[in-house]
Formats: sequence, C-alpha cells, structure tokens
Amino acid sequence: MSRFLTERYSGLEAYVPGEQPKAGQKVIKLNTNESPFPPAPGVLEAAREAAGKLNLYPDPDQNALKEAIARSLREEAGDSGFVPGPENIFVSNGSDDILNFAFGAFSDKDVPAVFPDVTYGFYKVFADLYGTPYRTIPLKDDWTVDPEDYISECARGRRFVVIAEPNAPTGIALGRDGIRKLLDGCRGNVVVVDEAYVDFGGETSVGLLAEYDNLIISRTFSKSYSLAGARLGFAVAPEALIKDLDLIKYSTNPYSVNRMTEAAGLAALAEKEYYMANCGRIAATRERIRGELEALGMEVLPSRTNFLFARHPEAPGAELAQALRERGIIVRIFGSERIKDFLRITIGTDEEMDALVKALNEALTGERR
Ligand SMILES: Cc1ncc(COP(=O)(O)O)c(C=O)c1O
Repeated sequence: MSRFLTERYSGLEAYVPGEQPKAGQKVIKLNTNESPFPPAPGVLEAAREAAGKLNLYPDPDQNALKEAIARSLREEAGDSGFVPGPENIFVSNGSDDILNFAFGAFSDKDVPAVFPDVTYGFYKVFADLYGTPYRTIPLKDDWTVDPEDYISECARGRRFVVIAEPNAPTGIALGRDGIRKLLDGCRGNVVVVDEAYVDFGGETSVGLLAEYDNLIISRTFSKSYSLAGARLGFAVAPEALIKDLDLIKYSTNPYSVNRMTEAAGLAALAEKEYYMANCGRIAATRERIRGELEALGMEVLPSRTNFLFARHPEAPGAELAQALRERGIIVRIFGSERIKDFLRITIGTDEEMDALVKALNEALTGERR
C-alpha cells in the first residue's frame, strides 16, 4: 500500500478470487464453480463476428440483450402476473458488478447490510468498500437460513438484505416460500436475492416481482451459461430500482459490457435448451458424487448448485485440499472457523469427478493408516 492511498481504504481487505492455474499447468480445476461444458458453437461465432467491430463502443444501454433476457425470464415468471420487459433488466460486467452497484445504491452508514455468516465472501467486501456497517446472521445448525432472523433485523430499522439463493458455499436453497416470507417481513427494505446458481435445481423468485417492489434478483451467465470468462451478469427488478442501478453504472462505467460479451450473451440465450440440458447433466453428476462422498464417510450438504460442500469428521479441510492438490486436483477451502474443514467442490465432468473420488479415497485411507 502506498502512502497516497486514502484513509477510507487503508483497512480494506479485498476479495480473494479462487486460484487460476498458470498457463500450461495441468490440473483438474474444481475450485471456482465454472461450467465444465464449452459455450455453444453459435456463441463463439457471434463473439468472433462482434470482434470485427471492436473499433466502436458497445451500446451502453444493451437494449438487444435486455430484450432477450426479459423474453427468457417471461417463461420463468409463468402466470405470476410479472411480465418482465427491458425496463426491468440491468446488465453489467458479471454479477459481482450487479452486487457492487446494489451495495453502492442501497446501503450506507445509515442503512446497514445484513447477510448470513456463511455466504458469498464478496458481500462483506462490498460493505467495507462503501463504509456500510453489516451484521452477519448465523445460519441455523442445519446450515439453513431462517427468514425470521432477517424480519426481526428489519424491524429494528432500515436494512439492506442480501441472500444467496441457493446459498454459497453451502449449496442449500431456502426455497421460494422462504424468500416470500422474508420479503413479506422486510417490505420497507431492499432485498437482493443472488440467484447465481438457481439453474442447477433452485426455485427462482422472479415471479415474486409481481408482488414485491423491494426485490432485486441478481443472475449470472458465468455458471449455467458457460460464460465465466466473458463477464456478464444481470439484475431483474422493478423499473424504479433498475433506474437507481443505472444511476451508479452511468456514473462509473457505462460501457461495462463489451461488444463480444454482448454478442455471446445474446447467442447463448438463443441456445437456452443446450445450457439447461448441461445443468441437468451437472445436477445428475452432483447427486452421484454426493452418494460416493458419503460412502467415503464424508458429510455432504444437500446442494441445489453446481458444487458440493463436504467435510470428513477426521480430516482437516486444509490437509484434504493439500492431498488433492498433490494429486493434481484443486478445490476451494475457506478460513473461517465454522466452515474450515469443508471442501467446496465444483461439479466437473464425470471423468473429473471420478478422479476426485479416487484421490479423496486415497487421501483418506492414507491418513487413517
Ligand atoms: C453467490 C455468488 N454470487 C455471485 C458470484 C459472482 O459471479 P460472476 O461475477 O461471475 O457473475 C459468485 C461467483 O462465484 C457467487 O458464488
């Protein structure tokens, strides 16, 4: 840190992204919840074509993309009464950007943030970045969110509530009824529901936008749409909240989605069936591997995502992760006391997961010898 960094940021602890292997390093990468499946062929073609116009700025409003996203969400909203249009969509550079702008727009020293003690680590960093005090609410002993905790927190004053649904890194979903209950009890407060992993078996709350004007749903193309490297995320929310997010985006970086990413996102939505079929394959592999890890004596939380959160009663998480690394497999571990023995394991291809189970079996039998 230089002597010029402002006081405001002097104590800031940045988010630490999952490790990316060096070029040429051959590993099975199960640490950042990417899709093991490539983008559909049409996506690559569309991005290549868009690259021919890189001399021109992209459309800052991203109207074509917003239209396509709204169309796709209309199916998900079903007969709820919510009919999403482009005015309900905000797009930016990954859902981290959506969350960043939401913290910037809706939380500050007078509007503290509230989120679970075990959840996506970036929430705390955004709160610190904006000088927002935050309160973490412990998940219950079974690792689930209790909406009542958030309702009583909101009863104490204005709050900014953020819930990952399904939650990460636990993988556990609260379900739409639970989200509805929370929204009902927190009507005077903005509630962000981070649905980064919803396509792998969660229940979307998009239809609840027919009833709640305080709800922002955040989504990403990074996981189910195999576009982590393109950086594309979006929010769906009432028009007034979208305008607030736009205010922050247009005050920082209006061109946060580049031409190739815009084209890739549009082409990906046109091949939704391909991606949803991949999500089904990932969920099937997840359930198979869950059984195999349990057979190795591991406790595995019930996941609705593209990862598993698992621990062994006798093996410290850091040691297991190291044993896997020595066998060429990277998984994610976390430092906080409550979850330090868990491994967060991204669901890869069937072959990659077979290699994981074999390596874990070796590591565990080796340790017990
Ligand atoms: C719960 C959750 N939300 C948001 C993100 C951010 O995703 P992206 O910025 O790639 O859209 C992640 C990434 O892993 C996540 O786990």
